[in-house]
Amino acid sequence: MAKEPILSAKDVEIQFSLRGRMLTAIRRCSLDLYEGETMAIVGESGSGKSVFTKSFIGMLDANGGVTGGSIMYEGVDISKYKTEKEWMTIRGKKISMVMQDPMTSLNPLKKIGKQIQESIELNQGIKGAAAKAKALEMLERVGIPEPEKRFNQYPHEFSGGMRQRVVIAIAVACHPQILICDEPTTALDVTIQAQILNLIRELQRDLKMTVIYITHDLGVVANVADRVAVMYAGQIVEYGMVDEIFYDAWHPYTWALLSALPQLGVKGEELPTIDGTPPNLFNEVKGDAFAPRNRHALAIDFEEEPPFFEVTKTHKAKTWYLDPRAPKIEQPKSIRQLREKMRGRG
Ligand SMILES: Nc1ncnc2c1ncn2[C@@H]1O[C@H](COP(=O)(O)OP(=O)(O)OP(=O)(O)O)[C@@H](O)[C@H]1O
Ligand SMILES: [Mg+2]
Repeated sequence: MAKEPILSAKDVEIQFSLRGRMLTAIRRCSLDLYEGETMAIVGESGSGKSVFTKSFIGMLDANGGVTGGSIMYEGVDISKYKTEKEWMTIRGKKISMVMQDPMTSLNPLKKIGKQIQESIELNQGIKGAAAKAKALEMLERVGIPEPEKRFNQYPHEFSGGMRQRVVIAIAVACHPQILICDEPTTALDVTIQAQILNLIRELQRDLKMTVIYITHDLGVVANVADRVAVMYAGQIVEYGMVDEIFYDAWHPYTWALLSALPQLGVKGEELPTIDGTPPNLFNEVKGDAFAPRNRHALAIDFEEEPPFFEVTKTHKAKTWYLDPRAPKIEQPKSIRQLREKMRGRG
């Protein structure tokens, strides 16, 4: 792993104004991204995965913005960018995003080929026949058969998987350094999902990209990621190498996520399901945001926000459980059994 991160988000706060009130979607959230890695971001719906990463390309909805912290990229704090002109130097060229809803990223009224071509013309300064040739090359590159014929078709003539390939073609057409994939396979069935994952992996290797892979599916994470960051209520609460998160997690929210894995059918033990709901983001969050849903929360969890504690050099968790002053806490049996099961499989 390279020493210096290629992107460093620090204490990022993102707020939206909604019907005259402020909602804080991201609370002092930090993330360092290293060249060539695949970083998975996991967390339940509404935890802030999309909002946080959209801020890296200036794509937050108009009613919101970065209200604190910094996002350093190539020596510049891009969180201070104000204009589209500034973002156009980065978005699509250096940092690209496959958006969560593939239907909104394609124009249903425009031919597929034209859409890729236009994106290439906009971002690469090549025009006409040259841009078309490049678009055809990209269609082929992402595994779309008969690119010449497909070029002239409309999005509705493509299957979900093929549409996702097109969206990926547009995202990588300019060889970005960082590719953010936001739930790129959620709407697809399992076989197609595996194909798209393979495609992303291949492109990452060939184009030497760094990938942020957003998903709520921990099963997918095990297959794609080098590192994992777990998000809860607008914050990263734990991060580490993929094995460290799967076999030695320490945040109770990570435990809850892991215990929902199908591999974890532990007989005779009640699974620690995630009861309750995340905090209301209109209100200020006190202590550990997960405490009200954690049956084994400590008193301090309701009072004071935990800092990150180091488990290893690469693994940190934001939970009082790791404070040396905390009562001796053991990982739940299900987590220890998962570790044994996985080890057993080699
Ligand atoms: N334009 C907006 N205005 C107000 N609130 C917003 C806006 N966009 C996002 N939010 C809120 O920000 C929070 C984080 O949303 P985000 O879309 O990042 O979640 P997510 O982790 O990507 O969830 P999912 O897994 O469902 O995609 C949510 O509470 C959401 O309602
Ligand atoms: Mg999302």
